[in-house]
Amino acid sequence: MRRLEGRVTVITGASGGLGEATARRFAREGARLVLGDIREEAGQALAQELDAAFLPCDVTCEGDVAALVDRAVALHGRLDCMVNNAGQLGAVGRVEEIAAQSWRDTLAVLLDSVFYGMKHAARVMRPHGAGAILSTSSAAGIAPLGPHAYTAAKHAVVGLTRSVASELAADGIRVNAIAPGNVPTRMTELAYGDAAAMRKSAEARNPLRRVVEGDEVAAAFAYLASDDAINVTGQVIAVDAGLVECRLASDYYARAASYFDAEGKRGI
Ligand SMILES: NC(=O)c1ccc[n+]([C@@H]2O[C@H](COP(=O)([O-])OP(=O)(O)OC[C@H]3O[C@@H](n4cnc5c(N)ncnc54)[C@H](O)[C@@H]3O)[C@@H](O)[C@H]2O)c1
Repeated sequence: MRRLEGRVTVITGASGGLGEATARRFAREGARLVLGDIREEAGQALAQELDAAFLPCDVTCEGDVAALVDRAVALHGRLDCMVNNAGQLGAVGRVEEIAAQSWRDTLAVLLDSVFYGMKHAARVMRPHGAGAILSTSSAAGIAPLGPHAYTAAKHAVVGLTRSVASELAADGIRVNAIAPGNVPTRMTELAYGDAAAMRKSAEARNPLRRVVEGDEVAAAFAYLASDDAINVTGQVIAVDAGLVECRLASDYYARAASYFDAEGKRGI
């Protein structure tokens, strides 16, 4: 499928993990890419492979995000899709131990960045009356599944998505987010110690009993960027193997199995 043929797309945090997977997926679907990241070497190499542009970009700096958007417009004449993806785990620890500066630094990477991305994408999309703005929230943006600052920031990304979607709908700009579960990337490897431990834990914990892969998150981004999602805005799609929505009930069904007879007719 080449649903994104010619669509000019900016992706932040594109040098690895979900950003890289999204860049690869969008390239396969025909998008013209402008990639940004603080990790220059990996970003340049990926851009070369995908025939994309790369710009060093620290998403905590509004000027860097604005420059990334402006580069896309300078190269291709417009911006069709903005993917606000860059992130890190940030401040961890007990609430009374988190230093105020670590808290602020975490929100700068995870939340200010998304605001800058939305602001500058809207600046160049509004005159064209079309566009898709996408952001990477998290399962921790729907339920308390991460460190405090991470969870707060990812919840805020959901709120900002819904709020900005409401404003930009009249201009034909759709604003949506993805809430991935645990995906094996550098970020989760750091959190879990190693990839094998992360995979084992996700398989045991996810109701679908499978690990969410980067390309499966990228597929959801591609859907939201495409005309298949032409009537979808203000939404957060969880790509989490059922972690947030089904975990409680799937535990319940596992316990309740002994109450049902073979035909499942007896009830509890
Ligand atoms: N991996 C998961 O399980 C998971 C789950 C839910 C949400 N997320 C989110 O997905 C996004 C991508 O994370 P990932 O798992 O691919 O991790 P990752 O570490 O593989 O990739 C993150 C990328 O962001 C870049 N980055 C970090 N700080 C930056 C900054 N200030 N400016 C520009 N680039 C910066 C890094 O260099 C890296 O290339 C993050 O927003 C993360 O919170 C990840």
